[in-house]
Amino acid sequence: MKKAVMILDKDFAIGTVDPRMYGSFIEHLGRAVYGGIYEPGHPTADKNGFRQDVIEKVRQLGIPVVRYPGGNFVSGFNWEDSIGPKEQRPKRLDLAWGTTETNEVGLHEFAEWAKKAGTEVMYAVNLGTRGADAARNVVEYCNHPGGSAWSDLRIRNGAKKPFGIKLWCLGNEMDGPWQMGQKTAYEYGRAANEAAKMMKWVDPSIELVACGSSAHDSPTFGSWEYEVLDQCYSNVDYVSLHRYYGNPTGDTPGFLARSMDLDAFIKEVVAICDAVGGKKHAKKKLNLSFDEWNVWYHSNQQDQEVLKADKWGRALPLLEDVYNFEDALLAGAILITFLKNADRVKVACLAQLVNVIAPIMTRNGGGVWAQTIFWPMMHASRYGRGTSLRPIISSPVYDCGDYENVPLVDGAAVMGDDGSVTVFAVNRDLKDAIPLECDLRAFGNMKIAEHIVLHHDDVKAVNTEEHPDEVAPRKGRGGKADGGKVTVRLPALSWNVIRLTKEGKA
Ligand code: AHR
Repeated sequence: MKKAVMILDKDFAIGTVDPRMYGSFIEHLGRAVYGGIYEPGHPTADKNGFRQDVIEKVRQLGIPVVRYPGGNFVSGFNWEDSIGPKEQRPKRLDLAWGTTETNEVGLHEFAEWAKKAGTEVMYAVNLGTRGADAARNVVEYCNHPGGSAWSDLRIRNGAKKPFGIKLWCLGNEMDGPWQMGQKTAYEYGRAANEAAKMMKWVDPSIELVACGSSAHDSPTFGSWEYEVLDQCYSNVDYVSLHRYYGNPTGDTPGFLARSMDLDAFIKEVVAICDAVGGKKHAKKKLNLSFDEWNVWYHSNQQDQEVLKADKWGRALPLLEDVYNFEDALLAGAILITFLKNADRVKVACLAQLVNVIAPIMTRNGGGVWAQTIFWPMMHASRYGRGTSLRPIISSPVYDCGDYENVPLVDGAAVMGDDGSVTVFAVNRDLKDAIPLECDLRAFGNMKIAEHIVLHHDDVKAVNTEEHPDEVAPRKGRGGKADGGKVTVRLPALSWNVIRLTKEGKA
């Protein structure tokens, strides 16, 4: 009979989980902003036009940071278009997505929304069509208390208190030919370094993310990171990683193994950061901002049709992937991979948050519902805070097209400040439930406070407005705690959250 074992010990710590690992992303793209977070006239809209039903769902996810305003959009964006009286803001063609941006929602509105949603803004500056000057000005506008042209303009525009934005992206995917203002690694590294220097001169407390490659399989991956960091290492704090996966051929075992690619990607970027740091005799280590990750392929065909019918339209239904159950399993495996690299992955953003490749969907004038991927994200964000422990896992394995020895059971564990332990585990086996024995040696007697299971018999099952709970978590049954060992049954194809507390504690 198949069986998996996970050994955990308090002293096997990977590192503290930075809560920003559970970040997300809102771009001025499709119906993310207009028809997503903002819909004046919607029955739940507040006086500023923000949908309260969406805010409630965002709060349920517990998102600590939201990257904004792009994405590809940012590389042609003039931040000054998004401030001041709404009726005077220009409408611009967005060359990234072939639509029209009205700038109805801008910097002040988004900062206000973020406050209501209980999250912080991670702001991206345009290093495509703009540069260091615009970048340092927007930092002054947002973070300088007052007494300078840009900060006084912010005050006149209604925000006496600075927005205090701490985390900034130095452009977006500058290696990609689809990007406005694409650069070579050297050109970008230099531009990022000058922008970084000036932004930090305005506000030394900010943290900066340099663009890494737009994907692990980009043709310039590796050499891009090395050259960029060689130019800007001492002025930046993180390097970005982006990765989307798809399953167009319906190969579930291969698709679920993609977190192996993610793990390799992370480790390779860490190695490059440390190589550049070593070359420079740097005392500081650069960490990783995995600021775009998700499944993305379901909507590709539909997007072409939408744009054919309405090029330069406003708030078009673009990138509206409808996520199925297997997508949720991969999302869970990705979150497990981040936790197992918590010493270096400090920021990660599920791309995106509402309607556009998103865990939260809305209908204009209608309801809001959680897609399948909402659940692992919510569980990890709620229960995955504390110290990530290095799990020693033994699991039966399988081979698929791209990978050998893929563990059927993968997992991560986080110890909370109260001594509780939460185990996250996926079972990739298509047919068999697998018992997972957690050997808790140094923890003493623990009991199962809760076992949450996400499973559906059909990997293609989805949630819709009419059937929002088709794929939803339920209680796991039959777990046993015995001395320092806890055993739970992981159903075939399942995402599991096992919350363990000290015997005697609620
Ligand atoms: O998240 C959608 C798009 O994917 C972003 O705009 C871009 O950065 C990436 O290619």
